[in-house]
Amino acid sequence: MKILGIESSCDETAAAVVEDGRNVISNVVATQIPFHEKYRGVVPEIAGRKHIEWILPVVQQALDEASLSIHEVDGIAVTNRPGLMGALLVGVTFGKSLAWAANKPFVGINHMHGHLYAAHLEQDIEYPYIGLLVSGGHCIICKAYNFDTIEVMGTTIDDAPGEAFDKVAKFYNFGYPGGPAIDRLAKKGNPKAANFPSPHIHHKGHEYDVSYSGLKTAVINQIDQFWNPDFPKTDENIAAAFQERAISILLKSLLKVVKETGITRVVAGGGVAANSLLREKLAAHTELECIFPSLKYCTDNGAMIAGVGYHYLKAGRVDPLNTGAFSRVDGFRKKPR
Ligand code: KG4
Ligand code: ZN
Repeated sequence: MKILGIESSCDETAAAVVEDGRNVISNVVATQIPFHEKYRGVVPEIAGRKHIEWILPVVQQALDEASLSIHEVDGIAVTNRPGLMGALLVGVTFGKSLAWAANKPFVGINHMHGHLYAAHLEQDIEYPYIGLLVSGGHCIICKAYNFDTIEVMGTTIDDAPGEAFDKVAKFYNFGYPGGPAIDRLAKKGNPKAANFPSPHIHHKGHEYDVSYSGLKTAVINQIDQFWNPDFPKTDENIAAAFQERAISILLKSLLKVVKETGITRVVAGGGVAANSLLREKLAAHTELECIFPSLKYCTDNGAMIAGVGYHYLKAGRVDPLNTGAFSRVDGFRKKPR
């Protein structure tokens, strides 16, 4: 089965053709980063307008590179939740129209399920495993029992990790998007230059949650309080000390979940999974089997959406053409079926 996947939930207009959930035949990502750069953040109105302009040529290119006409694909999978409403609607409306015109089955996909699936595009992965989904808008630590049964164990109680990278970078003018800019700067800085605070979340039912607002406030508004005076306050040192804490917050919750479940296979996904310190620190945990997608499948793409779509469509799960877009969802089902 060849599935066309379409992704337009944030600032990438993306389409891909994937065969049998595994063989990526084409994968086109048109990034809007240059259009949002001067605002140092994604402007929803601009994102929606760019998606409208680019969706047709991007989908056309994905089909051309796969040497297929729309009549030769077996189904259309589109991100329909969560994301920016105006951005999601472009992909969803386009995908449904195409499905109607070409008489193809349509399925709406949860963007975070796509991120969790990204690593599956490149290798066979056995269940169960712990999923670490970290992006600009989300943070989900989950237990994946099988393809469709995913239990959320922890999440963020405030900001997503990528959002913290982006906001710190915006404040200190490190570059846009903030994640890759901080990752680059931090390589030349010393993580011991500051000792930023780590959150303590004690509420029952939130044992595995993370929080980034305290770290963000500390780095932006209270930096002197946490700075080690032996080090100069350079961009590189700020980036390194921030990144050190940002990643240790994630690892702390992840390792708690590993301990609680006894599951040592960890599958990462989402833009922050591209972070080199996260990859390095996880690799040092030799008791874990850590699986990361290639960098091109960490950030938003259509291939991960086509991959999830394949499994649904193969199982006969087709969505009606009045399916809507949803800006928010509560992650996955809380408990396994
Ligand atoms: O998954 P993604 O493309 O979009 C969302 O679904 O949010 O993730 C984008 C996020 C941004 O916040 C970006 O700064 C962050 O991923 N990011 C990184 C790195 N590369 C991208 N964060 C830390 N280190 C990186 N190397
Ligand atoms: Zn994403």
